[in-house]
Amino acid sequence: MMNRQSYFNDNTKAALKHDPPGEWMPMLPDGCIRLSSGFPAPNLVPTEALNAAVNRLLEEEQDLPLHYVGSPKVDKLKEQIHARMAKRDMGVSEDELLITAGACQAIDLVARILLDSNTVVAVESPTYMEALEIFQNYTDHFISIPVDQHGLQTNKLEEVLVERKQKGLPLPKVLYTIPTFQNPTGTTMNEERRKHVLELAAKYDFLILEDDAYGELSFDASPTPLKAMDIDGRVLYLGSLSKVVAPGMRIGWVAADSEFINAIAWFKKDLDHPFAQATMASFLEQNDIGERIQVLGEAYQDKCAVLLSALEQHMPDSVSWYKPEGGYFVWVKVAGVDTSQLLSQALAEGISYIPGKYFFLNPQDGKEYLRLSFSYADKQEIVEGIQKLSNVL
Ligand SMILES: Cc1ncc(COP(=O)(O)O)c(C=O)c1O
Repeated sequence: MMNRQSYFNDNTKAALKHDPPGEWMPMLPDGCIRLSSGFPAPNLVPTEALNAAVNRLLEEEQDLPLHYVGSPKVDKLKEQIHARMAKRDMGVSEDELLITAGACQAIDLVARILLDSNTVVAVESPTYMEALEIFQNYTDHFISIPVDQHGLQTNKLEEVLVERKQKGLPLPKVLYTIPTFQNPTGTTMNEERRKHVLELAAKYDFLILEDDAYGELSFDASPTPLKAMDIDGRVLYLGSLSKVVAPGMRIGWVAADSEFINAIAWFKKDLDHPFAQATMASFLEQNDIGERIQVLGEAYQDKCAVLLSALEQHMPDSVSWYKPEGGYFVWVKVAGVDTSQLLSQALAEGISYIPGKYFFLNPQDGKEYLRLSFSYADKQEIVEGIQKLSNVL
């Protein structure tokens, strides 16, 4: 019998030791209220405007965006993203920006150029599960630093760095952080901690991979990104239009010092996605993204308030949560309950959430937590969903 796995390279064999990716997204029963989905609300996806953008693009450029190269709109998108970043005090030059197929591809490419199998990566605990899966394709060496209401606990990070240095243990090469409206906790790193983490990066010589996928979706004001405070080029910044336009367009980017960008571009062998990029440029030409972000922020704030008040009304005292200032998520602690065991009952009742265990390197750490998303479901569904969840609890 042919042993197919024997053909895999060492990196693949090592990576396949982990749980299969995507296990956290089970098939949802029909009619299930989706408090698990970190997707934009269906009514907030600009279907008509994107349709118009495609039509206009093809009228203006004919076959050009359908070739490998040649659409002027692809360069236009780069200019539009530059302008958006500059508005948030992140002036980067032409050779410091690369458009990718979503922020996820950028995480993978950054991991690819930085990580060896013995590289130590520092991550927030909990953090975005897809990023954990990506890093685990490259290394098994992690440091987990807890997050609280004010984001990454940088004093804990410092303690770990001091201890590792004293013991002669390897220091992290990179810290992956989602400082603003974090996935899954919805929390935001405060300014003091932002300064502290940049100081630590300089002192202990590590890079910061700043994932800003939700950064503009604020209910009030968005905090200054780490990239805008970075004076020595340690921050590799990830942006995305998935949460503010549409995830299926697959438009993200990485902004970093040109030496990093050159290395990333070297390995980006997907020949780009000119049609999606040109369509997005055409969309952004006709639709004011600033206005759109304002509308989205207000809509999500409204839905978040509905979710928080439903939790307040229906949950027993053993349940607690962080109050987000933006983004898509509310992180809930259910003391004494194993949320992954509870999920099948919740699904049977018609409500979905993501069990906390998927957001931790050590699944045990997430046993009593679950992530609720207020982005996808409408307000009535949110109220109904929380009632159902409280019944299950
Ligand atoms: C923190 C974080 N980063 C990145 C992504 C993915 O972004 P993109 O669709 O641009 O790949 C997500 C999506 O859920 C996310 O939560």
